[in-house]
Amino acid sequence: MRALITGATSGIGMSFAKQLNKRGWELVLTGRNEAVLIDMQRKLGNNTLIIPADLSDKAEVFRVYKFCKDKDIDLLINNAGYGIFGKFDETDLKDEIDMINLNITAVHILSKLFLRDFKKHNRGIIINVASSAGFLSGPLLSSYYASKNYVVKLSLAIAEELRRDRSNVGITILCPGPVDTNFNNRAGVSFSMKPITPDYAAEYALKKAFSGQVIAIPGLSVKAGVFLNKFLPYRLSTALVYNIQKAKKKDIPSSKAVTE
Ligand SMILES: NC(=O)c1ccc[n+]([C@@H]2O[C@H](COP(=O)([O-])OP(=O)(O)OC[C@H]3O[C@@H](n4cnc5c(N)ncnc54)[C@H](OP(=O)(O)O)[C@@H]3O)[C@@H](O)[C@H]2O)c1
Repeated sequence: MRALITGATSGIGMSFAKQLNKRGWELVLTGRNEAVLIDMQRKLGNNTLIIPADLSDKAEVFRVYKFCKDKDIDLLINNAGYGIFGKFDETDLKDEIDMINLNITAVHILSKLFLRDFKKHNRGIIINVASSAGFLSGPLLSSYYASKNYVVKLSLAIAEELRRDRSNVGITILCPGPVDTNFNNRAGVSFSMKPITPDYAAEYALKKAFSGQVIAIPGLSVKAGVFLNKFLPYRLSTALVYNIQKAKKKDIPSSKAVTE
């Protein structure tokens, strides 16, 4: 059993790596930070393979796929991602295009290529790390929320196609609310609600994925929020998200990158 994990150098991705390693999985880990990847390889053992890559570059995404092609991957975890905070007309366009390339294009490419391989063998699981943001419009983090909507909607559609094919291949979408990761500390953002730990998020996603569930929303309050949002008019829902995001802005400049 072997898994490819993107964004394995910190936060939720690193938790996925540790937990799968404990369960006896062999791993292929990717991220840009080569020093952290080397350290993880040393700690997790020799069967851990690493491939440093910047997945905002399409060519690098194909390079990672090629590296994995002969390695019998059974589980793809599309986890790498980030957000950019600020009003839509003020955020940096290049940063945003890079983010779209990472959060959307890389997820799209890897999901398609691995799904083809998995369907050939009629086995395999994809976990796409989206967010509770994937069910909402997100003023002040607009392109991040939109990117996670893409991941949710694409993955739901794939899940239905797999169900109609009676396929053994599975897809699970992890949709957490706030998670306490390094990224948030770096960005200097404070959460407006208590975050869950990355270990809990990863463990929850694996449990749902291995039991064949499509949507994984860890935490009762986030689950309730996503459910209740279905009954709110768009304008009210979007106004509420604006207030939540505005409360996090605090001392950071308007275009600084944040996760949730
Ligand atoms: N934290 C939250 O509140 C939260 C909530 C819901 C969903 N999520 C989602 O969870 C996922 C993981 O985020 P996290 O919270 O664990 O944040 P994190 O600790 O900052 O981890 C982000 C990971 O993405 C990788 N990454 C960033 N840019 C990359 C690039 N251009 N190419 C390749 N890898 C890149 C980083 O590795 P390198 O720096 O080594 O490249 C890092 O391993 C993201 O998709 C995020 O949207 C987070």
